[in-house]
Amino acid sequence: MNPTRIAPSLLAADFTRLGEEVRAVERAGADWLHLDIMDGHFVPNISYGPGLVKALRPAAAMPFDVHLMIAPADPFLAAFAEAGAQWISLHPEAGPHLHRSLQTIRALGCRPGVVLNPATPVESVAHVLDLTDLILVMTVNPGFGGQSFLRAQLGKIATLRRMIAESGRDIALQVDGGVTRETAPLCREAGADVLVAGTAVFGAPDYAEAIAALRESA
Ligand code: DX5
Ligand code: ZN
Repeated sequence: MNPTRIAPSLLAADFTRLGEEVRAVERAGADWLHLDIMDGHFVPNISYGPGLVKALRPAAAMPFDVHLMIAPADPFLAAFAEAGAQWISLHPEAGPHLHRSLQTIRALGCRPGVVLNPATPVESVAHVLDLTDLILVMTVNPGFGGQSFLRAQLGKIATLRRMIAESGRDIALQVDGGVTRETAPLCREAGADVLVAGTAVFGAPDYAEAIAALRESA
């Protein structure tokens, strides 16, 4: 298992000063920037698209971790790769051919990830582990920041950690939704090694202190 990496979610940042916010969390010790892409159709909210990802790319050196909550996702994969994403993750429910989507992301030079909604079983990713560099477990229903952590997902994280160990591949295991200094240790204990945090970072007065607290609590 890798050391804990912290990926602040831009969704909770001050939208009037996004460039500054990105620079500030990088200075504060963020490992990755998590970018939530929502289409108002796959999830009941709309956020931002590849144009924003591209505009923010020069603001930081850390990897951009793009979480697609859009359906279909396939027509937009190239745009996010060109915008400068390092990681592109999508939900199995976003299209009919997850295997093909993951192949496409890899062919575009990015690291492919699979996102599991609270009700989505681990079996959804079991047969594509060879193409998957990241598995994201949603610990809230996707669409909004600031929701409460769903503890029932901890068992899923632990199962996936065992599946990853058996695969022998270096697959990041990420958690997204309601991650705080109280829930971060539960995620880490279950086997997660990348923690997404929106409110717990951008809602804090001191980003460096918030990121350090998440890392230490985990
Ligand atoms: C929810 C998004 C999350 C969200 C997390 O659909 O995938 O990344 O920003 O926000 P917090 O950390 O506030 O739960
Ligand atoms: Zn997310």
